[in-house]
Amino acid sequence: MNIRHILVTLLIAMALSCSAQQLPAPTTTGGMPLMDAVQKRASIRNIDPNSSVSMQDLSNMLWAAWGITHDGKRAIATAMNRQELVLYVITADRIALYDAEQNTLTTVNTGDFRDICARQDWAKTAPINIALVVDTTKQPRPEFQNYTAGAASHAIYLYCASVGLKTVVRAMLEAPELEKAMKLPADQHVLYVQTVGK
Ligand SMILES: Cc1cc2nc3c(=O)[nH]c(=O)nc-3n(C[C@H](O)[C@H](O)[C@H](O)COP(=O)(O)O)c2cc1C
Repeated sequence: MNIRHILVTLLIAMALSCSAQQLPAPTTTGGMPLMDAVQKRASIRNIDPNSSVSMQDLSNMLWAAWGITHDGKRAIATAMNRQELVLYVITADRIALYDAEQNTLTTVNTGDFRDICARQDWAKTAPINIALVVDTTKQPRPEFQNYTAGAASHAIYLYCASVGLKTVVRAMLEAPELEKAMKLPADQHVLYVQTVGK
């Protein structure tokens, strides 16, 4: 293989790892009646390390938490419509950024970073962790940032309850290490990570 060949192969590999993965269109109607989902919502920690979450369920829960639903606004309220949340999906093989407008996931780092998402063993092996990140340039007030993260988390809880997935929102994580692995800009911070599985 000559140097040109190697460079072309490297460029293709880089382009593939940067390219956005299209998620299935979220299912935005139907589902379990709201009051039944509220009744079923709970933090459930006995997640099977060998379980998986379908791309359809992932797309649906991301949309429920942070999808664009009306007039360019989100599924959840944000103070002054600042829309300061950024969602990342952490799996066994990568960290990916969710783009609600495009309904895509874009890899920002490859590898298994689940051990720094958690200080609890059951969460280190769960198939999905969703990092709830705040862009402090959009919303500097911690109480509003936390409101937004809480609302998104609750939407994920309700969606999971409605389809029989297990989930727990967690503040116990290695935030500085995770932020480094996520390659976050200095003004973005991980507030919580929500673990999902079966
Ligand atoms: C802000 C916040 C942080 C939390 N952090 C953790 C955590 O790090 N680890 C964990 O196992 N559960 C965590 N939880 C889940 C709570 O322990 C759980 O919600 C509580 O025990 C009530 O149980 P329920 O969710 O089943 O109603 C957290 C919940 C909230 C709201």
